Amino acid sequence: MSELAAMLAALRERFSAAAGAAKGERDLDEVRVAYLGRNGEVTTIRRGIGSLPVDERPSAGKQINDAVDAMEALLAQRRGALESSEVEAELAQRIDVTFPAIPASVGSIHPVRRVIEDACAYFERHGFAVVLGPEVEPDFYNFDALNIPSEHPAREGFDSFWIDDTLLLRPHTSPMQIRTMQLHRPPIAIVAPGKCYRRDAVDARHLFQFHQIEGLLVAEGIHFGHLKGMLTGLCRTLFGVHQRVRFRPSFFPFTEPSAEVDTTCPKCGGTGVCGMCGGSGWIELGGAGMVHPNVLRDVGYDPEVVTGWAFGFGAERIALSRYEVDDVRRFIDSDPDFLEQLA
Ligand code: PHE
Repeated sequence: MSELAAMLAALRERFSAAAGAAKGERDLDEVRVAYLGRNGEVTTIRRGIGSLPVDERPSAGKQINDAVDAMEALLAQRRGALESSEVEAELAQRIDVTFPAIPASVGSIHPVRRVIEDACAYFERHGFAVVLGPEVEPDFYNFDALNIPSEHPAREGFDSFWIDDTLLLRPHTSPMQIRTMQLHRPPIAIVAPGKCYRRDAVDARHLFQFHQIEGLLVAEGIHFGHLKGMLTGLCRTLFGVHQRVRFRPSFFPFTEPSAEVDTTCPKCGGTGVCGMCGGSGWIELGGAGMVHPNVLRDVGYDPEVVTGWAFGFGAERIALSRYEVDDVRRFIDSDPDFLEQLA
């Protein structure tokens, strides 16, 4: 065997050992570069052809080319083998479809939201429209148009968050009475739920952000009896068919006469033997009354022709007794276990 043939045989031996040891595409490529690359071992051997006698050169070139062909064939074969073993490894990873999955948690309707939705649905069944309005109001809508001029002491009763001299976060939903009456001619029948804000210290009974449900009915011939009937129906829808409703004389500048509205404590059934109603048997829901003639006049209605009633109830108050919760802060704790339990 010529010296060149022996060299090539040894080279192929080492090459096939290296290619056989390659564990992946990248290893295999390193082997290719080391042997067959531009500066690889085969190139070094090829350079040696120049120093051979002229008549030996063609045969030497052919031997080298044959060796390169064989090495490339081996490389292709190894590459194919590596690829299929990778696919097999992937297929070998079994997925256990019986393994318990992480349960997806589903939200629930917030109790305050449910009170609002149920109250609105009740009024909608009676032909009322649901209207929504801004939480930032000019004092005109919040006070002046509700018969509370600038120096009126009733303004003090609404501990408001003021944004500047005339803008405030609404402390009640009553501005929606004015906004609705300014836009429409009577008859008017609306319910306006929404967020309200007061500078109250947070405790078991108070939040500085809470919800009210406002109602307004204005038409010819409306009287206090209509108000009593609708609010009694509302309480029976929210709490149960045996609810009684009581009206205590009160004062609001925008209603005359005015009342504070209570319903029988749903926990003790009005017997007054529980802690929730403080032993009184009654739960306070909010204010109500006949719309003041000044309010009607200011929006261009004739109080000699149309009359109306309005009410504003606290949604959290209703939810507290409806779901027998002892602390209003529970409603804003965002504790899914607590909220789901009430849903
Ligand atoms: N806006 C009053 C309050 O927040 C409640 C109310 C509304 C009273 C409508 C009478 C009529 O205290």
